[in-house]
Formats: sequence, structure tokens, C-alpha cells
Amino acid sequence: MQEMDIADKILGLLVGGHDTASVTFIIKYLAELPHVYDLVLKEQMEIAKAKAPGELLNWEDLQKMKYSWNVAFEVMRLVPPLEGAFREAITDFLYAGFSVPKGWKLYWSAHLTHQNPEYFPKPEKFDPSRFEGTGPVPYTYIPFGGGPRMCPGKEYARLEILVFMHNLVTRFKWEKVLPHEKIVVNPMPIPEKGLPIRLFRHNSSQSV
Ligand code: HEM
Repeated sequence: MQEMDIADKILGLLVGGHDTASVTFIIKYLAELPHVYDLVLKEQMEIAKAKAPGELLNWEDLQKMKYSWNVAFEVMRLVPPLEGAFREAITDFLYAGFSVPKGWKLYWSAHLTHQNPEYFPKPEKFDPSRFEGTGPVPYTYIPFGGGPRMCPGKEYARLEILVFMHNLVTRFKWEKVLPHEKIVVNPMPIPEKGLPIRLFRHNSSQSV
């Protein structure tokens, strides 16, 4: 590889690994949906209470965070961090009456796929129970893409998102400062003003 190719890969890894796993929208939805926040808190407190003071989370703890991960999944269904990506047709094929020649670039959209009511009834509804049991059928839920080029960081993302959720909810509740903040996509979706929030420590009326 040339030096520029290596730099390109490193940049790809940094952007792919940092901007996507941003938990901004988990924070946003948990502020807007207190009943969901309460269930996440309950699950995380049960894990926290079983630990000795200062003891870190381990792999078994992560396996118990089923509801929290379903919430994170539902957030990524409604706001996929990567809206979609391109593929190149490796052969001529027909799809829905359209003829796609070999070599054409095709855009697959996670955002539109996740809104398909055939697979996600009432797609606008925030419902983490969609992921219970066997969950959605293959290739209908694709925040990490699919196939051989699927995101290699998925399991690491799961780990960092769950550890972050645990440490946040077991310490704080929060509210949005701007109730009607706009979402912009540039190129990833983010709240226009950076989602300012007011944090409240548990067992304290003081905000921080
Ligand atoms: C919630 C977090 C994440 C989401 C939603 C996400 C999403 C995606 C998606 C949609 C793709 C394209 C997959 C495809 O074309 O089928 C991708 C590729 C990639 N992701 Fe992630 N990603 C996340 C976290 C991470 C992390 C933490 C890392 C690294 C530490 C990472 C590294 C990469 C790399 C290197 C690729 C390119 C893979 C290739 O082209 O072969 N991602 N990611």
C-alpha cells in the first residue's frame, strides 16, 4: 500500500469508529421517553447492585443488558448513524421491473429500509420490543450494513454503547434544553445545536 492509502484507511477507521457510535440519539430518545428511560435504568441498576464498589463491568454483565441493547437498536432503526452506502453490481440483474447492468453503482438506504411497514409495523413508533425473540428477518435491519463488507466494528460498538449507557443512566437523569431542536444530516444525522441537556444526579435535586 502507498502511504496515502494507509492514511485513507486510518481516517476511514477513525471516522467509521467514532462518529457512528455517537450516542447522541440514545440520549435524545431517553430524554423524550421517560418510560423507556425507567426500564433501562431498572435493568442497569440490577447489574450495578450486583457489583462490589468500584468493580468494573464484565462480559457477562453486557449479556444481561438485553433491554438496553434493544433500545439502542430501536434508536439506530429510527436514526441509522450511516444513512446508507453504495454497492457495485457484479452482474446484470432485474429488480422490481428495472434492469440493472453490471458495473452500475447502487445506493442502499438503511433509513428507508427501516421504515418499511411490512417488516416494522407502525414504523414511526418507538418500540424496542421489535428486537425481542428472533427479531427482524435478515437484511431488513441494516444499521451496520450487510454481507461481506458489513461493519467490522459492530461488536465493539455494542460494547462501548452499553458501557456508556450503564454509566450514564446509573448516575444521571436528564432533560433536553431545546425541546424542538432540529435534526440536520451532515453527513451523519445530528441535532442542529449539539443536543444541550440538563443533567440531574440521582438522589439530588441539583442539576449539573
Ligand atoms: C453504532 C456504531 C456503528 C455503525 C452504525 C456503523 C455502521 C457501518 C456501516 C453501515 C458500514 C458500511 C457497511 C456496508 O457497506 O455493508 C460500516 C463500515 C465500517 N465500519 Fe462501522 N459502524 C459503527 C461502528 C464502527 C466502529 C466502532 C468501528 C471501528 C472501531 C467501525 C469501523 C468500520 C469500518 C472500518 C468499515 C468499513 C468496512 C469495509 O468497507 O469493509 N464501525 N459501518
